[in-house]
Amino acid sequence: MKRVIIVGAGYVGLTLGVASAKVGYEVLFVDINSDIVSALNNRKATFYEKGLQEGLDSYFSTKKDIAFSSLHDLYENYEPKQSIFIVSLGTPLGPDSKALLLPIEKVTEEVVKWMGAADLLVLRSTVAVGTSRHLLNKINGLKNISFCPERTIEGKALEELHLLPQVVSGSTIEARDLAAEYFERITPTVLHAETLETAELIKLASNTFRDLNFAYSNLLALIANEHKVNVNELIKLSNFRYERNTIAFPGLVGGPCLEKDAYILAQSYPRIESNFILEARKLNEDMVMQAIKFIAVECRDANSTVLICGAAFKGRPVTSDTRGSFVFAIIDGLKAANIKKNNIHVLDPVVQNVGSDVKVINHIDELNEKYDFMIQLTNHELFEDPKFDTFIDNAVSHVISFWPRKKPTKRQQKSLYLGGTN
Ligand SMILES: NC(=O)c1ccc[n+]([C@@H]2O[C@H](COP(=O)([O-])OP(=O)(O)OC[C@H]3O[C@@H](n4cnc5c(N)ncnc54)[C@H](O)[C@@H]3O)[C@@H](O)[C@H]2O)c1
Repeated sequence: MKRVIIVGAGYVGLTLGVASAKVGYEVLFVDINSDIVSALNNRKATFYEKGLQEGLDSYFSTKKDIAFSSLHDLYENYEPKQSIFIVSLGTPLGPDSKALLLPIEKVTEEVVKWMGAADLLVLRSTVAVGTSRHLLNKINGLKNISFCPERTIEGKALEELHLLPQVVSGSTIEARDLAAEYFERITPTVLHAETLETAELIKLASNTFRDLNFAYSNLLALIANEHKVNVNELIKLSNFRYERNTIAFPGLVGGPCLEKDAYILAQSYPRIESNFILEARKLNEDMVMQAIKFIAVECRDANSTVLICGAAFKGRPVTSDTRGSFVFAIIDGLKAANIKKNNIHVLDPVVQNVGSDVKVINHIDELNEKYDFMIQLTNHELFEDPKFDTFIDNAVSHVISFWPRKKPTKRQQKSLYLGGTN
């Protein structure tokens, strides 16, 4: 069985590594973050993802180290063997709103130094269209590169990796076949894209499609507000037994992918004059400011006590990822409205902290204060628990929710256009 070497053991790399180990691959990790390296060598998950800790416990039975700070360190400990190298570095936006390319270039150059003739480099990060070919042209000695987009949802990644169709592409037929052979062990459906660019674009097209849909719903929410129409009712009735409609509910659009992928797509068509995609992105971004303004008006009294429910960027499926979460902007907004930091608490079942000066509560039983306001940012199932409704009825004066609550509480529910989206 081949070896899989994951370079960049974050959300994408670690979950793919565990899924690969589950089907029998020997999996090793390289990450520049020494905390991640030592956690993995102690078989400790570095974030919450369903099944991740169990996967590390079950499929990495060797006593040897499985994670290293560099490929050099890895090969000090392991003999070379036919391998698939998977590059899954983050691709944050630079100051020009384009995905940072240099780290990927440098890592690819390093990987190529260690690649054998029968090895494959899979690029898994989300990149601008043309990036794989750019690497192929730029990096001496790189022949077999395959772009295979990651399309799982955080919180269900380990399940979806074995279920979702996997798109593969390749710089050569050999590269594409090697990628297909690798993924066929993991998932039943492997789709062969004709070119590297097709596969790159599939990823960006999928995420931007979601972003555009949410932008449409958010615009509808603003229009509905103008006409004193309840947007959630509007959408529910429009969609009901009308299959042509799948209008999403409006809300804050968060997370580490949707906040950047539309920009990466926009970077991919410099010769087409259209602001369509970025206008929609901007509309989604503006919703956060609207939410903050709304909250600031409600929480006018500087002595107000506030419980923010939900610190991860979404509630379902459960994740501890706070990248692209609104909790930070909302806390800043409350502080700007002169609410004392000691009067702001955050409730989230899996996120441990949101910065040093705001208390985070993880369990419903630890809620033993009264709050003037509760602001519900995500739809974590805890917030639908009957015990939580009782808490609201007993200890909360006003509810501001960005999600339609299933069971309206006895307390007044204030809403903007509210709904919720991740
Ligand atoms: N998070 C998701 O669910 C998701 C889904 C689909 C696609 N993606 C894309 O996948 C990519 C990775 O996302 P992520 O969420 O896993 O990011 P991440 O930041 O969690 O992981 C990246 C990892 O790479 C490591 N790293 C950085 N530079 C390195 C280097 N030079 N050598 C070795 N390791 C290095 C970092 O320490 C980090 O652990 C991004 O392009 C993202 O857009 C993410």
